[in-house]
Formats: sequence, structure tokens, C-alpha cells
Amino acid sequence: MLVLGIESSCDETAAAIVEDGRRVVAEEVASQIAIHAGFGGVVPEIAARAHVVHVLPVIDAVLKRAAIGLSQVDAIAVTCGPGLIGALLVGVQTAKAIAFGCGLPLIGVNHLEGHLCAVFLDVEKVPSFPHLALLVSGGHSEIVVAHDFGKYELLGATRDDAAGEAFDKVGKLLGLGYPAGPLVDKLARTGDRAAVKLPQAMRGRGLDFSFSGIKTAVATHVQKHGVPTEQALSDLCASFQAQVVAQLVSKTMLALDEKKFGGLVVSGGVACNRGLRQALQTETERRGVDLFIPSPERCTDNAAMIACAGYYRLRRGERAPVDLKAAPGLSLTS
Ligand code: KG4
Ligand code: ZN
Repeated sequence: MLVLGIESSCDETAAAIVEDGRRVVAEEVASQIAIHAGFGGVVPEIAARAHVVHVLPVIDAVLKRAAIGLSQVDAIAVTCGPGLIGALLVGVQTAKAIAFGCGLPLIGVNHLEGHLCAVFLDVEKVPSFPHLALLVSGGHSEIVVAHDFGKYELLGATRDDAAGEAFDKVGKLLGLGYPAGPLVDKLARTGDRAAVKLPQAMRGRGLDFSFSGIKTAVATHVQKHGVPTEQALSDLCASFQAQVVAQLVSKTMLALDEKKFGGLVVSGGVACNRGLRQALQTETERRGVDLFIPSPERCTDNAAMIACAGYYRLRRGERAPVDLKAAPGLSLTS
């Protein structure tokens, strides 16, 4: 079964063809990073307009790359939330029009479920259910139990900023451009994580996160000492990243130690972070738990993960109504 996935929830217009929910036949992404970089963050109205420009060319390109026509597609899966309303609407309306015009089944996919499904693409070994998942992106930081496809239980979430948002805001403060997560990560590699003392937030047994205190501590440091350069900049990035990673890892391990899971899945843009990947590798090896992290391109927003999640919804007999709505505030458990 070939599913055409369409993703437009934030700043990537993406389309993919995925076979049987597992094999990526073709994918295309039109990134808007260059457009938003000058503003230091995603501008919702500009994002929506750019999706309008890119969505049909991206779908055409992915069909061409897969060497198929729409008549060979079995279903369409589209991100219907959460995300930016204008951005979501472009993908949803496009998917509805194609599905209606071609008489194809349509599935509305939760973007967060898409991130959790990215580990099932193009791999032999997959996690079994129930497994634990750490979802860390620009908009979300959540610890979730995946009981099955489409059945999720929320164990913990951020009380303020998402982890990726904290990386981006701290990066902006340090004049690093947007998105700053990858740049902070790169600088942190040559920095001394013990150089700057930052607060250890949200210690204790609860599974919620908080990153705004660490972010404010970086802001206070910059106010006192100015924006650092060279080695001092790397040191500050390493110190900040170490605190974020320590919190993500310690909370995830608390949940992991609670009961037996069929592995730990980590996904979302922040799952590209080298410090986080290394720390999770060490901790899961110590516990004899299998760790599943998608490749960096599949951790960030893509349409293959949407097609994958859509495939499993389709198999459960789900179909979106013809008036499928974009739902900017959709949660994983709603
Ligand atoms: O999953 P994603 O592509 O979009 C959302 O659904 O939000 O995540 C984007 C976020 C951005 O905040 C970006 O700075 C962060 O992921 N990110 C990273 C790294 N790569 C991307 N954060 C830390 N280290 C990285 N290497
Ligand atoms: Zn995302």
C-alpha cells in the first residue's frame, strides 16, 4: 500500500511516498529556514504563504521521484495538528482537494504521533509495544508511553519552554541565528560544560520538565559578562546544553526504571543533539534497554513519518471526514 504523506505544520513543506508504513519510496522537503532566519524565528504568516507556493511543486516532485502517478497512490495522510494554523491549513486543504478529486481515502495525522513513528521507517529492528518515548522538538517536550499505534499515555511534559525552544532562545541571545539548536550543539563540542554554573532545574521525582530557569540564568550571565566569544562562547553553550541534557535524561530514566518497556524511542528535532544522543546511549546500555533514535533527517519535521502514522491509522479503519479541520492545539492523547 502506497501512502502519500503531506506535512506543513511549521516551516517545512514536505511530501513523501511510503510503502506499507515502513519503506520510504521517495521524499521531498522545501525548507523555509533561509526565509525565517532573518527574523530570528518562524513568522507564521510568511510560513503559510511559503507553503502555498511550495506544496504542489513538492507533491509533484515526490511523485516524479517515485516514478508513479496519483492513480497509484492508495491513500493520503496529512498533518492536521498541532502546529501553526495558517501553515496547517495549506496542507490540510491541499490533501482534502486531492483526496476528493482522486477518490482516495484521507487520514488526518497528529504531528507528534508522526515524530514517534519515525523510528519505524527504513529499519529492520523496531521497538515493541508498550515502549517509552521521549519527544523533544521546537514545540514539545514530553515523556510518553506508546501502548500501540494511536494509543499514547502522557507521563510528563514541559511546564514552560520546549527543549528546542530553549535552545533557539539561548542561541538568539548569543547571536547565533535560527534555528540555533544545531549551532549550540556544534559549539558545545569544544566547550567545557563545567565552565559556567547554571541551575539544575526540576530535580525530584516528578516527570515534568522546565527549561526557562536555565534560559534565564544564561540571560543573566550575558547581562553581567556580555555576549561571550570564541572559547568562552563554546563553554557557555556546553554548560547550557549539559543542563538541558541532564534534565531530559534523568527524567526519562526515572520513567524507564518504573516498569519494563520494549525499548526507548527518542524523536523530534532535539533528538539530533549529539550530547543528548550520547548520554541516552550510555544510560540505556547500562540498563540493557534498546534505544531507538531515527536518523537526524527523520528526527526533524518530514512527511515520511506522517505517511507512516497515517498507514497504521488507515489499517485500523480510520478515515478523515471530508471537512477535516486543522487543529493547531491537538495533543497526543486527544
Ligand atoms: O521536530 P522539529 O524539526 O520541529 C518541531 O516540530 O518543532 O524540531 C525543531 C527544533 C528546533 O528548536 C531546533 O533548534 C532543534 O529542534 N534542534 C536541535 C538540534 N537540531 C535541531 N536542538 C539541539 N541540538 C540539535 N542538534
Ligand atoms: Zn515536529
